[in-house]
Amino acid sequence: MIKMILKDKNAIVTGASRGIGRAIALRLAELGANVVLNYRSDANSVEEVVKAIEERGVKALAVQGDVSSFEDAKKIVDEAIENFGSIDILVNNAGITKDNLLMRMKEEDFDKVIEVNLKGVFNCTKHVVPVMMKQRSGKIINISSVVGLSGNAGQANYAAAKAGIIGFTKSVAKEIASRGVTVNAIAPGFIQTDMTEVLSDKVKEEIKTNIPLRRLGTPEDIAGVVAFLASNTADYITGQVISVDGGMHI
Ligand code: NAI
Repeated sequence: MIKMILKDKNAIVTGASRGIGRAIALRLAELGANVVLNYRSDANSVEEVVKAIEERGVKALAVQGDVSSFEDAKKIVDEAIENFGSIDILVNNAGITKDNLLMRMKEEDFDKVIEVNLKGVFNCTKHVVPVMMKQRSGKIINISSVVGLSGNAGQANYAAAKAGIIGFTKSVAKEIASRGVTVNAIAPGFIQTDMTEVLSDKVKEEIKTNIPLRRLGTPEDIAGVVAFLASNTADYITGQVISVDGGMHI
């Protein structure tokens, strides 16, 4: 029997229609949390996740919104409060890539990745923090990347955004710890999702040889650590970056 460690908690997961966000939403629901699923455009996929969550006996609400918009982020948080009454968990998961070597990287591709991956985290956190501070409890979990720790050729924009998330996480953790709110980041390694599906089998095999655990990660590998950080078991952890990468970055 699964222990309902998140029973009656209310969570927001951004970018929850597929991949890691979907797995996180399902795991939180399995552990008893009601979940607000933010999505940008794929209404059909998110509806499928809503149904899967409701089958677990908890509430699910899909809210459309682009996290890079300050107003949309406010709408997501407002709808969560209207429907669920409180927000106990925020998972900033939404993210994009627009890879290229710096020599070829367009200004708009740099800006877009920063707007979604870094400013998006600011936008959602900014609107959620007053709610959590008032409650004197809350867990904010930001999805960074191994690339934010080690850098990666062809991903200067993405690495800058993901490293930015780490600085943001540590700073906000220090600001709001006294109010009982924790802020942590997860740095996933190479996880099998649509984001990484574009890479050739040859590249994937090469990546695997650099992973001590010799396999690519799954969205569930990340969801398990999010669930831990969202639970009371992690009450004394804040400002940390947890690598979930099969040992890629040791
Ligand atoms: P994905 O591309 O499968 O899913 C990303 C989700 O974010 C999608 O549902 C997409 O619609 C949503 N999204 C994108 N822009 C958005 C916006 N402006 N507003 C709202 N939602 C938006 O990618 P995946 O792999 O599931 O990635 C999830 C997170 O994990 C991302 O932050 C990514 O950078 C991070 N990550 C992924 C790794 C991997 O190997 N797949 C490794 C390290 C980090």
